[in-house]
Amino acid sequence: MKRSVLFVCLGNICRSPAAEEIFRSKVSDMGLENEFDIDSAGTYRGHNGALPDIRMSEAALSRGYRLHHHARPIEESDFYHFDRIIVMDDMNYETVSRLAPERKYIDKLFRMREFLSSFSEDWSYVPDPYHEGRKGFELVLDMLEEGCANLLSDMLER
Ligand code: 4NP
Repeated sequence: MKRSVLFVCLGNICRSPAAEEIFRSKVSDMGLENEFDIDSAGTYRGHNGALPDIRMSEAALSRGYRLHHHARPIEESDFYHFDRIIVMDDMNYETVSRLAPERKYIDKLFRMREFLSSFSEDWSYVPDPYHEGRKGFELVLDMLEEGCANLLSDMLER
């Protein structure tokens, strides 16, 4: 059976579509693309159907990741479909945990910060880059590259 992971942020146009593609790229590097189902979603419905924010697309492309996800809101059924749901910050955690069909499904929910090893305590979440400049997007990508690598190792160990 395929392993599955859903990345979640607020708008599903910056952090989570980037995480989705970075994770997919790491899975492909290991030749495991047929063994994983990878997707992303947002807690806010306002960007439903939109492609990623152009600033994130350009920053990601300069590192070799081509973003093509269309934004969609997370739904309760995602808790049934995915093995793991990875959120970017505490606000996402709150919103997504309220969607869980039963308490036991919270075991599937993780914060990306759990997979970050080299960032200082100041960065206990992946910050929303929407109102930031270029540096904000680069910081998010640095975090997601490390977090996705550690997440993949963790999933392969189990
Ligand atoms: P994301 O960034 O959650 O990383 O996709 C945001 C995108 C849009 C908005 C907020 C955050 N917004 O308020 O429209």
